Amino acid sequence: MGVRFTGWGIGLPERIVTNDELSLTLDTSDAWISERTGIRERRIGGSTRTLGAEAGRAAIADAGLTVADIDFIILATCSPDRMAPATAAMIQDDLGATCPAIDINAACSGFMYGVRMAQGLIETGTRRILLIGAERLSGWVDWTDRNTAVLFGDGGGACVLEYSEDTNDIIASSLGCDGSAADILSCNHAETFTMDGREVFRRAVRVVVDSSLDALEKAGITADQLSLIIPHQANIRIIQAVAERLNVPMERAVISLDRYGNTSSSSIPLAVDIARKEGRIKPGEYALLTGFGAGMTWASSIIRWS
Ligand code: ACO
Repeated sequence: MGVRFTGWGIGLPERIVTNDELSLTLDTSDAWISERTGIRERRIGGSTRTLGAEAGRAAIADAGLTVADIDFIILATCSPDRMAPATAAMIQDDLGATCPAIDINAACSGFMYGVRMAQGLIETGTRRILLIGAERLSGWVDWTDRNTAVLFGDGGGACVLEYSEDTNDIIASSLGCDGSAADILSCNHAETFTMDGREVFRRAVRVVVDSSLDALEKAGITADQLSLIIPHQANIRIIQAVAERLNVPMERAVISLDRYGNTSSSSIPLAVDIARKEGRIKPGEYALLTGFGAGMTWASSIIRWS
């Protein structure tokens, strides 16, 4: 038995904010932001609830299911709309579902932590899970701080994972957390994100490479067998450094940060959506999905698309 990804969906605000628009109010430029990060524009608006519900609805339809078929909803987010109840509960209501619903927070690794948790639930008897990553980070950004304001965007992405008798898409995973690094990227209640960007960068490359190699080893494959790398989208230079260290050509990496910025737990499903639309998801091929984020957390999985 195993777990299959059977549907994907996204939810995005309509409003596009370009680097040029940010340069009107911040001491920055399109040249600096695109050269140092790869980001050209981001979407701003909505709420974690609305973006997550839109993505979830689309994923259920893409799987050919109705909401009544869903047995469990997991929402990965570090920007919940309220302290309580969980934003997953409000999404459950919007979708018209009656199943259990819970938020998890592993920051930008949240979606991949969710994949691992969904796998565990399916292995212990839950049949169909809606996993959503949704963020409204724009509400937690200091729009006068050029060090952080240029990086983040809002959005949602979702997938349906189902029990399968005879196929398994999730071959191996490697997850971790180093809570001693909590202060290098954090956001207190009623405050905004603060970040030691260089330190996050340095550690991100190391943990993503190490967990990717660990997942590859557990899967019994080598990096040259990967047809795709779908990484968390924080900075194009982090993705380039990871690809170089894994010895995988950059053409195999899927990039969504140019148009969406860093959308934390939504960035991987948003990148999967791009890969699907570009016809890059092919049955039988291996992909590495890998995230890192505040905590510091990290999580990598080797997927073989069925
Ligand atoms: N526009 C113009 N100049 C800027 C900007 C900006 N938006 N931001 C910083 N600078 C300036 C700095 O002030 C500094 O100027 P100085 O030399 O006069 O002091 C100069 O640019 C270089 O600053 P650095 O911080 O060294 O720039 P760097 O090349 O490291 O890029 C960045 C900064 C983009 C933040 C990078 O370090 C990075 O991407 N780090 C990782 C961030 C990340 O991944 N965060 C998300 C984690 S996921 C999660 O859990 C939310």
